[in-house]
Amino acid sequence: MADTTAKLNVGGTDQEYSVLDGSIGPSVVNIASLYKDTGMFTYDPGFTSTASCESKITYIDGDEGTLLYRGYPIDQLADHGDFLETCYLLLYGDLPNKAEKNDFVDRVTYHTMIHEQMSRFFSGFRRDAHPMAIMVGTVGALAAFYHDSTDISDPHQRMIASLRMIAKMPTIAAMAYKYHVGQPFVYPRNDLDYSANFLRMCFSVPCEEYKVNPVLARAMDRIFILHADHEQNASTSTVRLAGSSGANPFACIAAGIACLWGPAHGGANEAALNMLSEIGSVDRIPEFVARAKDKNDPFRLMGFGHRVYKNYDPRAKIMQKTCHEVLGELGIKDDPLLDIAMELEKIALNDPYFVEKKLYPNIDFYSGITLRALGFPTTMFTVLFALARTVGWIAQWKEMVEDPSQRIGRPRQLYTGSPKRDYTPIEQR
Ligand code: ACO
Repeated sequence: MADTTAKLNVGGTDQEYSVLDGSIGPSVVNIASLYKDTGMFTYDPGFTSTASCESKITYIDGDEGTLLYRGYPIDQLADHGDFLETCYLLLYGDLPNKAEKNDFVDRVTYHTMIHEQMSRFFSGFRRDAHPMAIMVGTVGALAAFYHDSTDISDPHQRMIASLRMIAKMPTIAAMAYKYHVGQPFVYPRNDLDYSANFLRMCFSVPCEEYKVNPVLARAMDRIFILHADHEQNASTSTVRLAGSSGANPFACIAAGIACLWGPAHGGANEAALNMLSEIGSVDRIPEFVARAKDKNDPFRLMGFGHRVYKNYDPRAKIMQKTCHEVLGELGIKDDPLLDIAMELEKIALNDPYFVEKKLYPNIDFYSGITLRALGFPTTMFTVLFALARTVGWIAQWKEMVEDPSQRIGRPRQLYTGSPKRDYTPIEQR
């Protein structure tokens, strides 16, 4: 793999490290023996220059605005594929043929129900509990119900756990929503496809007929595709780190959900929607753009900028299209928030401040408007993200467990605390 080396001079001594090339993207300097060679660690808070693993699942080129799942561009998958096909691709590495797809859909569908006793678990939560709090608790609790798929050394059990998680996440997410709004739980229907079944579990009530709108189900499915994986982001790295100790997959995914809950990660779409409401009308946009540019004002344009994308987030373009489709289908001709979003995007994309800093709309800019139009309250936005990202987490977890070179994750530190000192009895302090 390596055909070049990198030299590092430490204390006057040259050390040579191999440079490993990926199939595309930046090469990496393999410094695994640095401590043994020099007695030093590297220091990289936030892992901005550190590759923590080798992976074949997802590739991002932030400068170009490219996102590939197993080599396939996200826009092609969103336009022509569906979510379960994307799940198959992420898990197994290739798109399924017809027979493989049917078999996979059957296997996932078989697992959509959750143990009946788990529904009583929900009533332990306060009615006003945030649905993400319920998600962290109930997904972790799956390990207490499915003992026959927690042996991570057994490939069959790993696969059953993966299918269970993809299948049960919509059921659990819909139950968290129903509990939150005080309505009865709705059981899954296996004759509906993945996203249609989810919408029905969320929005049908026992007292009236509910017909799934296929345009909205397709939009939901596309939103799930867009969020399915995003290589080694914070929640995925959390899942890998938790799994590196040999923890069971249900516990690892619960850890990922906990990480995703943070506003800097999964919570930005809610913040973007709130910002558009706060702006309130198109004529107030210049005032907010000026605030975003003012160094002395902490205000930022939510839904703009990204740690990795220094170009248009490819998911944002698809989300914008989906947003128009959903509003069109629902007959929402004038959504003032959409008008503000489109005008704000136009102004910011032509403003030298945003152009020079390469600040473009990210996926969260249009997703809040779309999810709200679909009928979800803002508290559910991150739950939907967790539902979709579960397949990415599980694919990355499986890849890690099956990688013979992986060891327990154990970062080192730069210690700046007190040197060794002796204990002083309390009366002498
Ligand atoms: N509005 C105004 N200025 C911004 C914005 C913004 N949204 N984002 C970045 N900047 C400016 C910063 O002030 C900084 O300016 P400086 O160089 O003069 O100091 C420069 O652009 C670089 O910003 P950083 O914060 O250093 O970039 P970083 O890569 O660390 O942050 C982040 C990326 C957190 C996403 C940032 O752009 C941001 O806060 N955006 C708004 C929140 C948001 O939309 N988050 C969702 C991300 S997508 C996701 O998680 C699914």
